[in-house]
Amino acid sequence: MYGLQAPAGTFTIEEPFFVNRLLNALSLMLLAGLLHIWMRSTAANEAQAQVIKDQNEKLQAAHVSRRMVEVQEAERRDVANHLHDLVGQKLTALSINLTIVKDQLSPSQTAQIARLEDSLRVVEETTESIRDVMAELRPAVLDDFGLAPVLRWYADQFTKRSGVATSVVEEGPVRRLPAMAEHALFRMAQNALANVAKHAHADKALVTLRTTARSTCLIVADNGDGFDPAAVHQPTRDHGWGLMIMRERAAAIGARLSIESAPGHGAKIIVTMDGDAHDQSSAGG
Ligand SMILES: Nc1ncnc2c1ncn2[C@@H]1O[C@H](COP(=O)(O)OP(=O)(O)O)[C@@H](O)[C@H]1O
Ligand SMILES: [Mg+2]
Repeated sequence: MYGLQAPAGTFTIEEPFFVNRLLNALSLMLLAGLLHIWMRSTAANEAQAQVIKDQNEKLQAAHVSRRMVEVQEAERRDVANHLHDLVGQKLTALSINLTIVKDQLSPSQTAQIARLEDSLRVVEETTESIRDVMAELRPAVLDDFGLAPVLRWYADQFTKRSGVATSVVEEGPVRRLPAMAEHALFRMAQNALANVAKHAHADKALVTLRTTARSTCLIVADNGDGFDPAAVHQPTRDHGWGLMIMRERAAAIGARLSIESAPGHGAKIIVTMDGDAHDQSSAGG
């Protein structure tokens, strides 16, 4: 009897137990499924958030570097103006004073006269140097004469300083660009030529300013070693910023920069600005 009852009792106990276990297993599976879906959706959300964050950071970086270029340009203008007002004018005064003293000496005081003449020469050289620095900082002539004449002047200076025979060719109709665009193009030419002097081992460079009805193109080409543009490393603390800054300058005026170069075949830096960009940058100031 007891033996018969026992299985009956076990059966009545085990039925709900079995159902419970099944339900438990099912709910566990459901929970695991929900957890999986939730994890996947958070992973997707996280990936999406990361993409948005990356994009924001890129936009911000572009904004910052444009602003940097603007600020740099404004600072250069300030330094140039200060140099002119503070140092340049004082040098002029100094030169006038020295001339007056020299004129008051009797012709017999040859030693003093020689010393004063030497001093006047030093003042004149210093004035020249200041003028050079000012020209580097802010070529005032750019506003007066436009890009091509200033490029020619700079190419002459560069030829003397670097030994790389550099000439400027102007193609197409002469056209003035918005001041900001002319300044940016001039800086890019300076930068590209600095790279020629620093890296190319070239003996010739050619700066072309090509204007068509629809676009303006600045090309700085050299006959030097050349390089693989794709292999240019990320900038480090103190070098490798040149090309990047040139790109930013180009972007700031709505132009684009491209490089044509290969080891052993010289290098060409090309900045292209099309008609729409002119309108855009003139509207922007
Ligand atoms: N005209 C050129 N001829 C040969 N190599 C060049 C020239 N312009 C740039 N490069 C190469 O590109 C690199 C990056 O140039 P840049 O960004 O101006 O940095 P940096 O001049 O400080 O090295 C240079 O280190 C050089 O290897
Ligand atoms: Mg450089």
